[in-house]
Amino acid sequence: MAAARDARERAYAPYSGFQVGAALLVDGRTFTGANVENASYGLSMCAERTAMFHAAAEGARRLETVAVVASNDDPTWPCGACRQVLYEFGRDVVVVSEGLGGKREERRLTDLLPDAFGADDLA
Ligand code: THU
Repeated sequence: MAAARDARERAYAPYSGFQVGAALLVDGRTFTGANVENASYGLSMCAERTAMFHAAAEGARRLETVAVVASNDDPTWPCGACRQVLYEFGRDVVVVSEGLGGKREERRLTDLLPDAFGADDLA
């Protein structure tokens, strides 16, 4: 959570003003990411995918845990696109989210993304 909180400080979110930080444990290593927005809004990238792509590009593959800190008082959960990208690397992981008010909750990724589409569907 500390790494996610720290990553959130580095968010580039001048358009939404909604800063998000994520920290992932992948192959026993911690990878962080923050949301990075663009004047062409649709090109903006979420914190969770920034972190996961960072990890994968470094060669890490087995996602173990996800920590998220966003800008609401209550915990917020990864968007649909991020859920799908996280599922690619960790099917049975727990997502921990902390609000700015300090409230912390957990969800299983399989509960956030039921009946997910994955590699097995292409077999
Ligand atoms: N955002 C994330 O970084 N993660 C999410 O799971 C939801 C939304 C970012 C995208 C955008 O920069 C800002 O929050 C507002 O949508």
